[in-house]
Amino acid sequence: MKIYLPLDAAAKALGADDVAKAVQAEAAKRGIDLTLVRNGSRGMVWLEPLLEVETPEGRMAYGPMTVSDVAGVFDGSSAKALGRTDDLPWLRAQTRLTFARCGVIDPLSLDDYKAHGGYAGLTRALTMTGAEIVAEVSASGLRGRGGAGFPTGIKWKTVAEAKADQKYIVCNADEGDSGTFADRMIMEGDPFTLIEGMTIAGIACGATKGYVYLRSEYPDAIAVMEQAVRIARTAGLLGASVARSGFAFDMEIRSGAGAYVCGEETSLLNSLEGKRGVVRAKPPLPALEGFLGKPTVVNNVISLATIPVIFEKGAAFYQNFGLGRSRGTIPLQIAGNVKYGGLYEIAFGLSLGEIIDGIAGGTASGRPVKAVQVGGPLGAYFPRALFDTPFGYEEYAGKGGLIGHAGITVFDDSADMLKQARFAMEFCAIESCGKCTPCRIGAVRGVETVDRIARGDTAAIPLLTDLCDTMKSGSLCALGGFTPYPVMSALTHFPDDFHATAKEAAE
Ligand SMILES: Cc1cc2nc3c(=O)[nH]c(=O)nc-3n(C[C@H](O)[C@H](O)[C@H](O)COP(=O)(O)O)c2cc1C
Ligand code: SF4
Repeated sequence: MKIYLPLDAAAKALGADDVAKAVQAEAAKRGIDLTLVRNGSRGMVWLEPLLEVETPEGRMAYGPMTVSDVAGVFDGSSAKALGRTDDLPWLRAQTRLTFARCGVIDPLSLDDYKAHGGYAGLTRALTMTGAEIVAEVSASGLRGRGGAGFPTGIKWKTVAEAKADQKYIVCNADEGDSGTFADRMIMEGDPFTLIEGMTIAGIACGATKGYVYLRSEYPDAIAVMEQAVRIARTAGLLGASVARSGFAFDMEIRSGAGAYVCGEETSLLNSLEGKRGVVRAKPPLPALEGFLGKPTVVNNVISLATIPVIFEKGAAFYQNFGLGRSRGTIPLQIAGNVKYGGLYEIAFGLSLGEIIDGIAGGTASGRPVKAVQVGGPLGAYFPRALFDTPFGYEEYAGKGGLIGHAGITVFDDSADMLKQARFAMEFCAIESCGKCTPCRIGAVRGVETVDRIARGDTAAIPLLTDLCDTMKSGSLCALGGFTPYPVMSALTHFPDDFHATAKEAAE
């Protein structure tokens, strides 16, 4: 009997380890020869821990499992039976390219990885020149999934063409945005995808060394990635001659100490060098003077983990999905007050309404949706009036927002948007690296100004707007520069929450 049960941190937080022990005990009691695979998550967090039993008809899903549900699975009488995993509507409607293997394979089995298309991308890349690899990435239309949406091919070209004795590939796995977990999920569920993507990046750019800067709050992801790197090295897929190609590439996992600003690429590089995580002024670009002053590609986990499928299926295949200048697929991370939260990979273009009312099933509280914050703590709050906005970089920018790392956090009508605006300023004040004045001082003044408005001083509203303008245009990086997005969107779309009299009347 073969059973799959996630080792994913979210599944573990919901009791997967206890269920795993109960499964082993039940099989032993019944004298059943059990193979228990600890897989990644399928992304349906409300069904975790999701147990799957392999059958000739395919995998059968059960969830959300508790220890007391285990015997029923063996008896065939489980009230948690959901049918074939592949037929679950949430999974069926997705286009899983980056996450195709996540939740399907044993994360640390190289054989399983290869049996599901793993290393086909590297094999193809090894038949190409560095310039051809970079051109393929450009042709795919892939843009950085870390937040800024910068074209990945252009970044790689800059590093590839830079002359230096040493170059680096740095993977940004700091994943600081609230409500996001795509990086964690893929590192825990399909770590070789990231290793393969970084290896292709190294070969394309002439970089022989890679680092994954992984947040310390992700101990499970750190453990899985470290094991996967060791396995890949032992198999000759990392090291002095990757897959006997003559190209050298090796990598290490480094853990961050926990600061939101250390997700900003230059601050990350300082932290990686053992320095304080303070933002560096640009230029010079990290692509020319990055880690230890050498040309460095800094890419998000999802950007790099998408490279293998682009090389396996071809740039044209990947580019064919999407909308406008947002090509391919995006792993939406749906969180907050929702009925169905989790990871949903789909081509760009779905409207926010389709995501919230359809996929997420509305709020968990059953109350009307008031606001949706897209793009993490620096993202704008969208009211229902903007629910027709299609998911795409330019489309969101056009509505005063951003898609960031594709985190989507839902609030019902009990949310107080003035408090959310205060939270944005407070977050910025706490997380500011302190290098520039508009952010370091502005965020503190922002908290004070929102407090004045909360006390009924509506004359402070224009002051808040002015302050946001200053932070937006004068900050050195996007922490100070984008904090005005949540603040101004809250003020613009939910003005009643900023007028004490209107608020009192409503209460
Ligand atoms: C305050 C701040 C925090 C950031 N946090 C992250 C992060 O956690 N992960 C990430 O990939 N990018 C983050 N970024 C974006 C990075 O600076 C950079 O654009 C990204 O790593 C580039 O990779 P990409 O092109 O693949 O997106 C952050 C940016 C800022 C300003
Ligand atoms: S905007 Fe804030 S976080 Fe960014 S450099 Fe300035 S002080 Fe540092």
